[in-house]
Amino acid sequence: MSEQKKYKRHLLTAALLYANGPIHVGHLAGCYIPADIYARYLRAKGEEVLFVSGSDEHGVAITMKAEKEKTTPQAIIDLYHHQIKNAFEQFGISFDIYARTSSNTHHETASAFFKKFYDQSLFEEKETEQFYDPEVHQFLADRYIIGTCPKCGNENAFGDQCEKCGSTLSPDELINPRSAYSNAQPIKKKTTHWFLPLQNYETWLKEWIINEHAQDWKPNVYGQCKSWIEQGLQARAMTRDLNWGIPVPLPQAKGKVLYVWFDAPIGYISATKEYFDQKQQPARWKEFWQEEETQLVHFIGKDNIVFHCIIFPAMLKAHGGFVLPAQVPANEFMNLEGEKISTSRNWAVWLHEYLAEFPEKQDVLRYYLTTNAPETKDSDFTWKDFQARNNSELVANLGNFINRAVVLTGQNFNAQLPTAQTLESIDLALENDLKTISQKIEKSLQNYRFKEAIGSLMELSSVGNKYLQDNAPWKLLKENNKDRAATVLHCALQLVANLSILAEPFLPFTAQKIRTILNIEKPLGWQKVGSLNLLNAEQKIENIGLLFEKIEDTTIEFQIEKLNKSKNPAMTTTSENNNQAATITLNALKESISYEDFQKIDLRIATIKTAERVKGSKKILKLQLEAGNLQPIVASGIGEYFEPEAIIGKQVCWLANLAPRKIMGVESQGMILMTTDSEGKLLFMNPEGNALNGAEVR
Ligand code: 2FM
Ligand code: ZN
Repeated sequence: MSEQKKYKRHLLTAALLYANGPIHVGHLAGCYIPADIYARYLRAKGEEVLFVSGSDEHGVAITMKAEKEKTTPQAIIDLYHHQIKNAFEQFGISFDIYARTSSNTHHETASAFFKKFYDQSLFEEKETEQFYDPEVHQFLADRYIIGTCPKCGNENAFGDQCEKCGSTLSPDELINPRSAYSNAQPIKKKTTHWFLPLQNYETWLKEWIINEHAQDWKPNVYGQCKSWIEQGLQARAMTRDLNWGIPVPLPQAKGKVLYVWFDAPIGYISATKEYFDQKQQPARWKEFWQEEETQLVHFIGKDNIVFHCIIFPAMLKAHGGFVLPAQVPANEFMNLEGEKISTSRNWAVWLHEYLAEFPEKQDVLRYYLTTNAPETKDSDFTWKDFQARNNSELVANLGNFINRAVVLTGQNFNAQLPTAQTLESIDLALENDLKTISQKIEKSLQNYRFKEAIGSLMELSSVGNKYLQDNAPWKLLKENNKDRAATVLHCALQLVANLSILAEPFLPFTAQKIRTILNIEKPLGWQKVGSLNLLNAEQKIENIGLLFEKIEDTTIEFQIEKLNKSKNPAMTTTSENNNQAATITLNALKESISYEDFQKIDLRIATIKTAERVKGSKKILKLQLEAGNLQPIVASGIGEYFEPEAIIGKQVCWLANLAPRKIMGVESQGMILMTTDSEGKLLFMNPEGNALNGAEVR
């Protein structure tokens, strides 16, 4: 197999996601699946790999969400960190650590970085004028300034971006700017910040990127960097006036925090430290960050290119002693049914919903997102294409090949690997194809061309299918040519063993199933690929059923309808959401009841102690509540909206004296009460403060 530059170890990072909402297919396709494929590939080769990511728990997006939902940033990050981490785990994204930027290690690491820069005069300290809300006495982050977009006339554009026309804006460009907090006209006020003088690193960056990486970085990445550098680099503020984040570690900087550029990427370093702290090898993070034999690769989406190719490397260079990224294989974006994926418009395929609606089909989505990855340009997720690729590629090609070999062996060779007799030229040609195609797969993987790599994997499976078709072992058996049939099935199953290795980076759940079929205990290493001699003589072959099943039209129609139904109209501003965007219809009031009737209802405060899914139901969660000295079990139909682990610890309002009912086999003692927000999202009815469990609601 072809070799690239040899590194001793590999440090792979995947962008830290803001923990302010659930995760969707665009995230997986753009960053996490490619990163996972690469990590799994390197591990299969026996390389030393550390794959880190985590939640970005700071920044305006989180404070805005908390304000919108009338809760605290802490409650938001706690909820989504666990939900996102869980979704990644279920999709087999094999992080070695999924850290949080709220950890002490991260706060200490980022503060120490800042302090060093400050002490060594690596910052420019500058007083600038920033927008300020004179009514609420707060500096306004760009996102908190709303006004008319100079490009398209949208009256509700944000100070950093117009969501209608997609233009990137600065607050100064907005016509009639107003504050998202109070609607007051912002004024400009002086404030001091610390700037990283990127211009000082321009010559070095030119040399490093333009001269050294013109060939090996992806054209979309290289092109963006080149154009930034050619426009001339300027000092960029590394701090902001905000009250949520890592405080600037200087006595004169009250009310200021580190900006995402000086916070999130240092999170990769903190995550590495935490990983080795957990392993009780606290000094080893340095090997990964400070020794030249490390290959550092940042997996990100296109919106983070400049950040990871210019700003963070300049920080690492200024600090000194750190390795620089060898590669930043950023992807473009994935759209959905021809439109931009949008959280606020609920135009997305959410991973927690996919997992509930397509159980055991993680690899189908992994496959689709890889074959349709936005590697060189934006791509489009369509449910029809998802179905077609499952049915005509996974089912009809890969699944069919493996199934035919397994079933014929089960029926005719006592479910044991048949013994090969003399190999014919067609068998040698199969081995040859295996060698050529697996080399192609490896070359594509080494060059971060995962779409091409998975295409070759399927080509190999087609070769297997054609081999069976051309040799027709079922016919040979009918003709009593059992020896030749044995040889053909032997070779086919040896090819299946190769597929178990080659599929592992892309389709890890399927690779595991193939190993079960072939009775292979531990994954065979990548170095074994290319030989038709991987399985032992008479190895037992299990028929575990079909690897993939057809997805019916009705399933896809349901998804398309659900998507269109749940789409919200374009969201405008934070303040307007409160009164304008009501997309749910309020029912008319019910008939009046007597006070005596009302008194019959026993409502109590309770805390959710445990929550789990009920087998066979997407909707029902089995909750165990604590209400004073009572511990009732309640079956609640909220399973499509909440992950069980995300709701543990929530206080709820419990209708205690509803007659017990059996729901999906669970004897439900009462029910918990829910309401909705203006977008139809389910909300718990919880008390404003910490109420006593078991207390009556009157
Ligand atoms: O832009 C973002 O999504 C931020 N959470 C930063 C991601 S990249 C990072 F982790 F460095
Ligand atoms: Zn616009």
